[in-house]
Amino acid sequence: MSYPFAYYQESAEVIRARIGDFTPEIAMVLGSGLGYMGDIVEDPICVSYHDIPHFQVSTAPGHKGQLVFGTLSGKKVAVMQGRMHHYEGYSYEDVSYAVRVLKLLGCSKLIVTNAAGCTNVNWNVGDIMLITDHIKFFLESPLRGENLPQFGTRFPDMSHVYTPALQNVARSCAKDLGIPLREGVYMYFPGPQFETPAEVRAARLLGGDACGMSTAPEAITAAHAGMDILGFTLLSNMAAGILDQPLSGEEVNAAAEAARDRFSALILACLKRM
Ligand code: HPA
Repeated sequence: MSYPFAYYQESAEVIRARIGDFTPEIAMVLGSGLGYMGDIVEDPICVSYHDIPHFQVSTAPGHKGQLVFGTLSGKKVAVMQGRMHHYEGYSYEDVSYAVRVLKLLGCSKLIVTNAAGCTNVNWNVGDIMLITDHIKFFLESPLRGENLPQFGTRFPDMSHVYTPALQNVARSCAKDLGIPLREGVYMYFPGPQFETPAEVRAARLLGGDACGMSTAPEAITAAHAGMDILGFTLLSNMAAGILDQPLSGEEVNAAAEAARDRFSALILACLKRM
């Protein structure tokens, strides 16, 4: 279904009643291993997804299901602790619903992170990749259905989904911190099954450096709404078929945890300069 604009307004109004005159500038949708960043927000105001009309509640393990408003690195942020995934049964509209609500609340920028499989055979597990672009070929778009012109145009341009100026911020922060930064294309797969080795070879041929099950829907929705976007991927495992070993969710979580301090230091530094 297509949600009417009034739904987004109702969700925003309920949150506004909780956060008062706090106006977030930067929305953050954080993937595996980084959800804890919601816990280090200063002067936090937490709003449970349960309390927000029309919000879906994430079922993914390790995802908390609340919005945290407050200050991080001197910036006014809204952290989504728990994101929705299409593989959980949500529509793409549900998956990216919160992005539009946060836009209505004042966010003009979005930071998205994820853990993903590395399809680039020259890179390593644990590397952090700056997302320069994405490929989302499968299933429908989060923008399918009636266009809501309050957010954006029917046929939005996707030439620069990941804002070039924010990519430069990430490059300089990584350099200053001495964190090696890969740069590449995130290829979206709907999951929840990991890819087959043939799909990974296809991804590589098509130009994908990482394959994962999130991020692209939220980024498309944010780009439609004119938000600036900064995206990072933690390469948590070599994608299927590259190494002679099966993939598991445990491996992904362990790699994400291991990279946590490095990854969050980079994000905190970027926030400061955004
Ligand atoms: N494929 C898809 N999603 C993922 C992967 C992967 O290999 N690793 C972490 N998320």
